[in-house]
Amino acid sequence: MNILLTGGTGYIGSHTAVSLLQANHQVFLLDNLKNSDISVIHSIKKITNKDPSFIKGDIRDTALLIQVINSLKIEAIMHFAGLKSVGESVSHPLDYFNNNVGGTLSLLHAMEETGVNKLVFSSSATVYGDAQYLPIDERHPTNVTNPYGRTKLHIEEILKDLASANPSLRFVSLRYFNPIGAHESGLIGESPNGIPNNLMPHIVAVAAQQQPHLKVFGNDYDTSDGTGVRDYIHVMDLAEGHVAALDHLLSCNEPFDIFNLGTGLGYSVLQMIKTFEKICAKPIPYKFVARRPGDIATCCANPNKALKTLNWQTKRTLNDMCASMWNFQINAHQNQ
Ligand code: NAD
Ligand code: WQD
Repeated sequence: MNILLTGGTGYIGSHTAVSLLQANHQVFLLDNLKNSDISVIHSIKKITNKDPSFIKGDIRDTALLIQVINSLKIEAIMHFAGLKSVGESVSHPLDYFNNNVGGTLSLLHAMEETGVNKLVFSSSATVYGDAQYLPIDERHPTNVTNPYGRTKLHIEEILKDLASANPSLRFVSLRYFNPIGAHESGLIGESPNGIPNNLMPHIVAVAAQQQPHLKVFGNDYDTSDGTGVRDYIHVMDLAEGHVAALDHLLSCNEPFDIFNLGTGLGYSVLQMIKTFEKICAKPIPYKFVARRPGDIATCCANPNKALKTLNWQTKRTLNDMCASMWNFQINAHQNQ
C-alpha cells in the first residue's frame, strides 16, 4: 500500500517507516523538520535497502496535503506529526492546540477531500492521567492534566465524532505508553532537537558523560523503591504495532477503535538506572530531587486488547531497549 507518514522523520515515525518498508509497503514521509533531521532518510534507506520518499511540509497546509495525497495515490495515513513536550504545552498551550489539533483538522479535511478513509493516530497513555486501577485498560476513564494530553484527547474525540457520522471511515488511535530504544542497527534512534524531557535520554547523556548526574524526581512514591514506575516499550515493538494496526484496518468493521500499546510490565527509575549501568558498564550517578509537578506514581498498560484484536504483542526485553539505545549513542558519537 501507499502510506503517508506525517511526522515521518521523527523518532517513532522513522522506526515505523522501517517496519512498513520491510512489510513491502510504499512509504512517504511528510515532516516540517521542527523536531527531526532529514538525514534519517538516508539511514532508513541503509537499513531497508529501500527508498522512502520525503516531502518537506506542514500538516496545517491543507492544500499541500491534498496535492500530496492525490499525486502519490496515498491509501492510508499514519499520523505522528505533533509537538510532544508536556512542560512546553503548559507554557505555550496555544502552540499545542494550533499544531496538534489544528494540524489534525487540516489532515482530516484533506482526507475527506481526497477520499482516503484509513488513519492510524499517535495517542498517548497520558490521556488516562493518575491511574484509578492497574494495569490500565482502554476502558479506564480519561483524565488529562496538561494541554499536551488535552490535544490528544480532543483529537480522539474528533475522530470518534467523524467516525459516527461516516461509518465507512477506519480510524485507529494507538495509546503509546513509554517508548524508548532504537533500531538494532544503531542507525536511527531518538535524537530530539533541544533539551530532552524524558528519563532515558537523560540516562544516556549521563552515561556518555554529557551530564554529571541524573536527577531522580521523587523517592517517596507508593512504589517498591519510592521512584516512579512506567511501562517502557521498545520503539521497534511499537513500530510493529503500527503495521498490525494497519492490517487490522483493512479487514475490520469498526469505524473507530482505541488500543493500548505497552508491555504490561512496570519498571522504576532506579531499575532503569541499574539496567543501563549493566549495559554500558559504567556507573550512572544520580541525586534524588523533589517530585516533578504533574508526575504520577505508576503507569502500566493492560495490552490484552491489542493481543486479541491486532494479534500483536511486544517481543523485546528491557535489556534490548537499553542496549539498542547505548548502541545508537555510540554509533552517533563515532560518526560525529
Ligand atoms: P518526534 O518529535 O520525534 O516526531 C514528531 C515529528 O513531527 C517531528 O519530526 C516533527 O518535526 C514533526 N512535526 C511536528 N509538527 C509538525 C507539523 N505541523 N507539520 C509537519 N511535521 C510536524 O516525536 P515522536 O516521539 O516520534 O512522537 C510521534 C507522535 O507520537 C507524536 O504525536 C507524539 O505526541 C506521540 N507520542 C509520543 C510519545 C513518546 O514518548 N515519544 C508517547 C506517546 C505519544
Ligand atoms: C519517566 C519517569 C519521572 C526524567 C512522558 C509524557 C507522556 C509520554 C511519555 C508523550 C517518571 C522520572 C524523568 C528525569 C526522572 N509522552 N524522571 N528524571 O512522564 O511517564 O511520560 O513521556 O505522549 O505523555 O508525560 O515519562 O520519561 O518523562 O518519566 O526521575 O530526568 O522518570 O519522574 O517517574 P512520563 P518520562
